[in-house]
Amino acid sequence: MTSIRGKHVLITGPTEGIGRATAFALAERGARLHLLCRNPTKAEVLRAELGSKYGEVDVELYLADLGNFDEVRNAARAFIERNEPLDVLINNAGVITTRRILLDNGQEQMFAVNHLGHFLLTTLLLDPLKRAAQGRVVVVASEAYRFCRGIRFDDLQWNQGFSTFPTYGHSKLANILFTRELAERLRGTRVTVNALHPGGVRSQLGAQNTWYAGRILALVKPFLRTAERGAETSVYLAASNEVTTTTGEYFYDCKPKKTKPSARDRKQAQRLWDVSERITNIDTGRAQRPRAER
Ligand SMILES: NC(=O)c1ccc[n+]([C@@H]2O[C@H](COP(=O)([O-])OP(=O)(O)OC[C@H]3O[C@@H](n4cnc5c(N)ncnc54)[C@H](OP(=O)(O)O)[C@@H]3O)[C@@H](O)[C@H]2O)c1
Repeated sequence: MTSIRGKHVLITGPTEGIGRATAFALAERGARLHLLCRNPTKAEVLRAELGSKYGEVDVELYLADLGNFDEVRNAARAFIERNEPLDVLINNAGVITTRRILLDNGQEQMFAVNHLGHFLLTTLLLDPLKRAAQGRVVVVASEAYRFCRGIRFDDLQWNQGFSTFPTYGHSKLANILFTRELAERLRGTRVTVNALHPGGVRSQLGAQNTWYAGRILALVKPFLRTAERGAETSVYLAASNEVTTTTGEYFYDCKPKKTKPSARDRKQAQRLWDVSERITNIDTGRAQRPRAER
């Protein structure tokens, strides 16, 4: 591992499961934590727990629901106003639902939270990432991307054919395609971008859905790993000096893993980028041009 001591690390979804274990592992290594949470009470409890365990740990909280793009913009702005580099951004928060939930902005919840909110957050934070000595974006994806064949550009809101695993898998395919496309767009900078599968992890994912939690989770629970074990690849990609120049890859158990062609399709990745820009109303071309050219 390289030293992450004193580095600025922003983690989404640190109040449960893999994100929480990632926050504790990085606090132990002396990282300065910026935690994006949607629940203010859980956020404060987490900060207190980190403080009581690690004493001097530096923790900043940002409140945002990733499905609410105004809140994501406010959180990004709050980080940018600190005028610090962003050494590591860990896009970890995620949701799985057993029914189709449409958000106020018209987007289906899993696609909005798992992909679009993170797309917006990341592209808004590109300047601080580029200012870091070696910025890293770590995207917590999933092998569930295999449940669907491609991005449904004609029906991103799942008006037709919603089904828990294909719809969740679709949002996770979007995570991997976003990783590949961002890595391409950041070639020539010091920023790297990698995705990962954490393994099957005992967490709160899906716990709010009664039949999923009651039947599927109960069945697979004995085979699931702990959140600490699930966080290992996130921590590795955030902190290891073995991956300082590795970019655009997908990892499992701290090793690169080949993906199916659907997760390597550059045309789909470019098209997803364009659509995500339009939906979240951000001009990333502008965000990526040097200030003088704007
Ligand atoms: N568990 C697995 O087996 C597994 C396998 C493959 C991939 N993954 C991926 O791993 C990541 C972490 O999942 P987990 O298993 O640790 O799940 P988890 O225990 O349910 O934790 C999810 C975290 O995301 C936050 N979150 C959920 N919706 C959000 C929203 N709309 N806005 C902001 N934050 C939100 C949650 O906040 P609250 O505390 O407020 O709910 C929580 O902190 C996800 O991306 C998931 O897809 C998990």
